[in-house]
Amino acid sequence: MEHVKELNDCEELVPSELGTKEYWDKTYVNGMKHFKESGVVDEGWFGEDSSLRVVKWLRSEQEVKKNDKIVDIGCGNGLLLLELAHEGFTDLTGFDYSTNAVELAKAIATQQEVAIKFEVRDVLNDDLEPELFDIALDKGTYDAVSLHNDNTREKRVQYINNVWKILKSKGKFVITSCNWTEKELVTHFNFKFSLHHVIPTPSFKFGGKTGNVVTSVIFEKREDIL
Ligand SMILES: C[S@@+](CC[C@H](N)C(=O)[O-])C[C@H]1O[C@@H](n2cnc3c(N)ncnc32)[C@H](O)[C@@H]1O
Repeated sequence: MEHVKELNDCEELVPSELGTKEYWDKTYVNGMKHFKESGVVDEGWFGEDSSLRVVKWLRSEQEVKKNDKIVDIGCGNGLLLLELAHEGFTDLTGFDYSTNAVELAKAIATQQEVAIKFEVRDVLNDDLEPELFDIALDKGTYDAVSLHNDNTREKRVQYINNVWKILKSKGKFVITSCNWTEKELVTHFNFKFSLHHVIPTPSFKFGGKTGNVVTSVIFEKREDIL
């Protein structure tokens, strides 16, 4: 299968500490400290605009219902889900493998009196329940998985398989990345997902080439594969 070959052949990113759980555990200890000491909530990954673009798409898409089951994979401090709760979305879940992230997200949601389920979950594990969600979100988590320093390709493939598994039929996957281009994401996800939509993001021009700092793509779960 050509697309699997492309996935195998694609060049991996240079590993970084952002690919380690220790890094994220430390990040959210600091986040909790800021929140407890001064009530400050650290900005989510890629800034507020990237969250707002995703929220706007979900709000405006006719197929998306306010009671759809939505999961944010690698939710961090939970800001994206908070935005969605404030927009009237009612069935929201956040997964993160960092207990510190989940504790922080719970504390912020409690303070804002918003009902969101937050669970400590490693999305690379085999124990995820199948066909649970209508929509899965990812802002920076596939990037973090891609920055692991060992078996990175296998981890990316496991990630894609698990996102496919937890989505219901025709489920949507909304991914925001700063490490991979739209073309690369399509190449990676192609064996389990078809491209549904690309959310326009700011672009820059350099040396005669145009590129995007952040890419936001919506995939639909493919049914024509096992
Ligand atoms: C770049 S941060 C993004 C956090 C949040 N989505 C945001 O936009 O602010 C990546 C997040 O993914 C989480 N993460 C990384 N690998 C994970 C895994 N295998 N399972 C669950 N969460 C993971 C990290 O703990 C971290 O919260």
